[in-house]
This record gives sequence, C-alpha cells and structure tokens, in this order.
Amino acid sequence: MSAPKRLSPNDPNSFSNPENVRVDHMHMKWNVDFAKKIIGGQVTYRLLPVTQPVQQIVFDTRQLTVNSVKSSDGKALLFKLGDPVLNFGQPLSIDVGSLFNSGSSSVEIQVDYETSPECSALQWLDAEQTAGKAHPYVFSQCEMIHARSLLPCVDTPFSKCTYTAEVTVPKALQALMSAEVSKDIVEVSDKKTNKFEQKVPIPAYLIAIAVGHIKSKKIGPRTTVWSEPEFVDASAYEFAETEEMLNAAEQLMGKYVWGVYDILVLPPSFPMGGMENPNVTFATPTLLAGDRSLANVIAHEISHSWTGNLVTNINFEHFWLNEGFTVYAERKIMSILKGEKFRQFECIGGWKSLTDCINTMKSDNPMTKLVTDLTGLDPDEFFSVVPYEKGSVFLYYLEEKVGGPAVFEPFFKHYIQENQFKSIDTDVFKKMFIDYFTNNLRISELIKDIDWDTWLYTTGMPPVKPSFDTSLADVCIELKNRWMEWDAVEPCPFSKGDLRKFFSQQITEFLAELLEEEVSLSKVQAMQTVYDFNSYKNCEIRFRWLRLCLKAKWEAQVPLVLQFVTEQGRMKYVRPLYREMYNWEEIRPRAIDHFKKTRSSMMSMSATIIAKDLHL
Ligand code: BES
Ligand code: ZN
Repeated sequence: MSAPKRLSPNDPNSFSNPENVRVDHMHMKWNVDFAKKIIGGQVTYRLLPVTQPVQQIVFDTRQLTVNSVKSSDGKALLFKLGDPVLNFGQPLSIDVGSLFNSGSSSVEIQVDYETSPECSALQWLDAEQTAGKAHPYVFSQCEMIHARSLLPCVDTPFSKCTYTAEVTVPKALQALMSAEVSKDIVEVSDKKTNKFEQKVPIPAYLIAIAVGHIKSKKIGPRTTVWSEPEFVDASAYEFAETEEMLNAAEQLMGKYVWGVYDILVLPPSFPMGGMENPNVTFATPTLLAGDRSLANVIAHEISHSWTGNLVTNINFEHFWLNEGFTVYAERKIMSILKGEKFRQFECIGGWKSLTDCINTMKSDNPMTKLVTDLTGLDPDEFFSVVPYEKGSVFLYYLEEKVGGPAVFEPFFKHYIQENQFKSIDTDVFKKMFIDYFTNNLRISELIKDIDWDTWLYTTGMPPVKPSFDTSLADVCIELKNRWMEWDAVEPCPFSKGDLRKFFSQQITEFLAELLEEEVSLSKVQAMQTVYDFNSYKNCEIRFRWLRLCLKAKWEAQVPLVLQFVTEQGRMKYVRPLYREMYNWEEIRPRAIDHFKKTRSSMMSMSATIIAKDLHL
C-alpha cells in the first residue's frame, strides 16, 4: 500500500482546487423529500479565475448522484466523478476551460444532483423519533468534512463563498438554514418554499439545514429560539442571557456582522452540544437543564461568530485556531457575565479534562499536538479536547506573559479585526503576536522565552501550567478529600446538605475530581445513598456520575448508562461511556449488543465512530 497523499496543496482532506479557480457564490434550489430521504435539485456556482489558465474546477462529493452539469446558456459540460479515496469521497472534475477562454472574468455553471439516503451530513428522523410524534424531521451537521455529502462543493475552509437558497418542504414544516431567512414564502398545493440568504462569505462546513415542525419565540432584539413546540418555552428560559453574551462578545471582539443570532434546539440525537452555524446556532436539547448552568455552550457558539466563522482555520490541521480561540473567548464572556473567578474556575475544569484526555490518548500520540498532520486521516477521528483546552490554555499563558488581560485583550481584538473574512494558519497568528508587541521594549523582552515550538508542535501536556485562582473550586476539592479520607467503615459522615451551597458546575467539578482518584464501589454506592446522583438530569453531572459508577464497576448502574447513551446522542458523552463499557470485559458484549440494536436511530457519523471505538 502506498503512503497516503495530501489531496490538495492547502488541504490534505479536500480534492478541490481553489488556488486555481474560486467559487464566489452558490445558489441552491433544493427539494426535501422525506419519503425518499433525499435532498435533490440544482446548485448554481459563480466561478472566478485565480491563476490562469483555468481548465477544470474540482468539487468534493460523497455519496452523491450527479445527473448533469451545464453552463449558464444551457450547454452540457463534460464532467468526471473520480475514484473514492479513503473517507474523503470522490472528486467531481468539470471542464470549464472553454467558458473562461471566451474571456469572461466570471462564469456560472449548474449541477443537477441528489444526495443518497445514507448522506453522512444528514439525519432523517421519522415522526415517532420526534417529540411531537406527528411530523418527520431532518437536520445537518457538516463540520468537519460532511458538506460534500450534502452538495458538490469546495469542501475546505481555505475557501469561502456567499450563498442563497430556495428550499421546498411539506407545508406543515419549516426550513431553517445557516443564513437569514426571508419572510417571502411561496406556497403551492401541499408544499412551501422558504428562501435564505447568507451575505457573508463562509466555508462549506458552515452550510446547514434543518426542516421540521418547529415553532419560535423571540427572546432578544436579534435572537429567536426555535424548536419543536414542546421545548420553545424551556429554550426561551434557558437561553435568556443570549443578548448579554452577544454584547460581551462585541466588547471583546468587535461588531457582530451577521445580523440575527438565533438558536435552534434540535432533537436529542443531535451529535454535538452546539454547532456554530451562522445566524442560527444548532444546539442539543440536553442544554435545557432548567437552571441556565449549561449556557456556556451558547457563549461558545456565539464566540465562533468571530473565531472560526470570521477568522477561519485554513484547514483542520489548524483547528485550534477555531476551537482554542473560541474556548478562550467563551470564558472571557463568562468572566464579563459572572466574574473573573468563574472564568478561573472554568479554566481549572478545562485543565483537568485536558489531563484526562492526554492520559487516555497517551502523551506521545501525534494527535496531542496543537498543530496536527491530517494527511490521509479523517478529521472526525482525531477529534478530542486537545485543540480546545491546549489551545485555550496557550492563549491564557500568552495573556499572562504579556502582563494580563488589559494588555492581551486589545491584541486579541486586533487579531480578529485584521483577519476577519480570511482563512489563516498558525504562523499568521504567531507572526501577528510577535509583530504587535515588538515596538514595546518591555513586553518584547517578556515574550522572548515563549517556547512556541513545544506549545505548537510537540505531543503531550503543555510545557507550562499556569496558575488559576481556586476560590470557587476549593469547596469541590475539600469535599472530594473528605470522601477520599473516609475509610467506608466508620459511620458515613456525609449528608445531602454537603451540596446545598454548590452551584451545578461545582457538583460537576466535584465529580471530575473524583474521577481522577480510585473510588471504591462501596464509596460510590454510599454516595448514591447520600446524594442520589441517579436522580440528577443535568447532563454534565449525569455523565461524570455514570463514568464514576463504571470505573467502580457497579454493574447495577449499567442499564442507566445504556439509557443515557440512547436517549441523547452527544458524542462527547456517548463515546467515552461506550469506550469505558468496552474496556470492562464482562460488560463488553452487552454494550456491543446494545449499540447494534440502537445504531439505526443514531446519526450515521456518530454510529461510524462508535463502531470504530467498539472495534466492530
Ligand atoms: N464546532 C464545534 C462542534 C464540532 C466540532 C462539530 C468538531 C464537528 C466537529 C462546536 O463549536 C463545539 O465545540 N461544541 C462543543 C461546545 C463546547 C466546547 C462548549 C460541544 O458540542 O460540546
Ligand atoms: Zn467550538
């Protein structure tokens, strides 16, 4: 077998050639067919030459049927679908040389195609799988490289374009896309057509669509929450701080350029906590904790409106420029809303999950580097908290290094303003940081000993652990210590009151602390008797509690774990729990059996990854 190749010079995972010819705008005309579980129609692309001569445009595709390709005057164009390569799909090469030869500076082509029912970007839900049980639902998740299974496209964040769309759906349903929705709706017999416009150029991974029986409620001057009718009020309550968060983000990073910021709460099988689709964040219903304690996910997705959606990683090898910067901004927003001590508390939790993750992955794993090599690798598989937490702690370290927030924040804003609408790599950031501070003699002296190469290109934990204010974490650590010191023989000295003054995130942190220790089965059982963690619905608490039970090999809790990995689909929870069950030999067959029985109701990208985790 030959060594894997980089598919294109700028992106190891894309066949496209944006360095030669660029897509400037796309118009999608889609019909959403719930009976066949396919989306089909036409996409019109406006192409601009970058380097001469232009012979071909190459699109990424996966599992698509291409019916025809035409120029704007209706002439058929020659096209070829190449052989599939690994998980990357197939290149669609279209001869456009003749169109550019006639001297035009911009040309239009139209592709007529349809998706397959196995489209990895989409999940189709039957009516019974929704809360209302009366209407089907479909939603997309295109990041990292699933946009190519939804439409032929330049599926690399190297390239950005604007789009417009007309989406025809059954009359009872509403379509949303990662764009502004137009009030102008066309109804014909039992169908209706929703129209959309995304005026800001975006990478393909930010294309998104959801269609279902969804209703809305306005919760702020630029924010509407959308969900199945059952969850609208709970969503409005949970995300009431959105406008305040947007204001904090603007203070930190500059004007919000996208217009509206809406939130769509999806059915429980949505595989992420949140996805920063422009104009409408997609969110899991597991955020509806009832006490706004999980709203940091919204702060995170809001932050992506700058870090990621405006300043975009050039390819997913520099994913930390998206996620590390976003975690950093998310915690700054929380600091503005809840105080600096709260931010410090979140950083402590972040360091802990980084330690846990690197221990599991092993510290010589190349995927523990901040900047990775994705040649021949599916970016979905390398996904971990490393770009998030190693990335954000690097920025925290730099913040301290230059003298604190008052010095670093103006640089952060400058970085955003200078790079917005672009796609950049890590060197652009590094150079901008160094240049920004060179004129300041005192600071340029302070930053001289930053070990860039170890931070960016070396595996394992970061070279430096910054110190964090522990004042909100102390009670968690104290309670953990008391549990660890108790010999489980003397009468149980604990009571429900121990947690009375804890806010939800502190309970989460207490459990995270315990996960770093060896806690005996009898202690975990005593904890259930005293605190009744089984009755907690908060997903962060539930996740850590169930992990603790699995670690202690408490067999009677396994049905609760199986229930938790089925009633919601967040990969963040489902993957570690399945992995933990796989590692427990007596339970392994049950876990595998359960997965096989339930995989058809999972999103296909999640099922694929979990099947790998379970060595199926
Ligand atoms: N962009 C990510 C979601 C994502 C990552 C989708 C990788 C596909 C591949 C999103 O912004 C995210 O990070 N969500 C987190 C939120 C958290 C870090 C606050 C999640 O889903 O848990
Ligand atoms: Zn993110």
